[in-house]
Amino acid sequence: MKLFLDSAITDEIKHSLEYWDLDGLTTNPKHIKNSGKPFLRVIEEIAKLFSGTDKPVSVEVDPHLTDWEKIVEQGVKLSKMSPNFVVKVGASESGFKAIRELTQQGIRTNATLIFSVSQAWHAARAGAYFISPFIGWKEAYGESTTTFILEVAEMLERHEYDSQIIAAAIRNSRQITDVALAGAHCVTAGLAVYQESMQNPYTVHGEKIFQAAWDETPSDDS
Ligand code: E4P
Repeated sequence: MKLFLDSAITDEIKHSLEYWDLDGLTTNPKHIKNSGKPFLRVIEEIAKLFSGTDKPVSVEVDPHLTDWEKIVEQGVKLSKMSPNFVVKVGASESGFKAIRELTQQGIRTNATLIFSVSQAWHAARAGAYFISPFIGWKEAYGESTTTFILEVAEMLERHEYDSQIIAAAIRNSRQITDVALAGAHCVTAGLAVYQESMQNPYTVHGEKIFQAAWDETPSDDS
């Protein structure tokens, strides 16, 4: 399962590229806003960080756009800014039409804000390169997501669609485990979620035991 960072903060992206050999990046309008920089400036900075790699970087079109031709127009512009850019489009009738058109032009897309298998199916039929089911948002509204990724994965496999699942809005280690076992191709989460997923209180406790043993071992110099 590929590890994507969900962020537009360049220091976080640099850190995860250096430490984890990050597989790719996802951004959204919230992350762009949190970067504190204007849209074009921050995506240009991000493009530079990935230049020369084949790592995908999802950049979302203006979410106000409801006309598919306008979505395609902006998507084409974004795709020309960097070969890494994947055009992220919200799930809707116009969004799926735009995904179909962009795909026909050879532009990779990421169908975002996916909350049902039927939306994932429309995205796959339209040729979406990535499909992003939002796990954390569903759970925040009290829905169980235990079978969601499994069902999307089964639908893709059974009908031989090539789209890859990015399990999105992941909030904790348990969700990482669930989506990995359910067959997500990629996972995207914030820096803190991944850092927490590398830790465990038992590991900290175990290190203390080993440190004490290390300190009590006779020195080779004595
Ligand atoms: C995925 O591509 C989205 O950017 C992301 O996971 C949205 O969720 P969040 O910003 O609430 O984590």
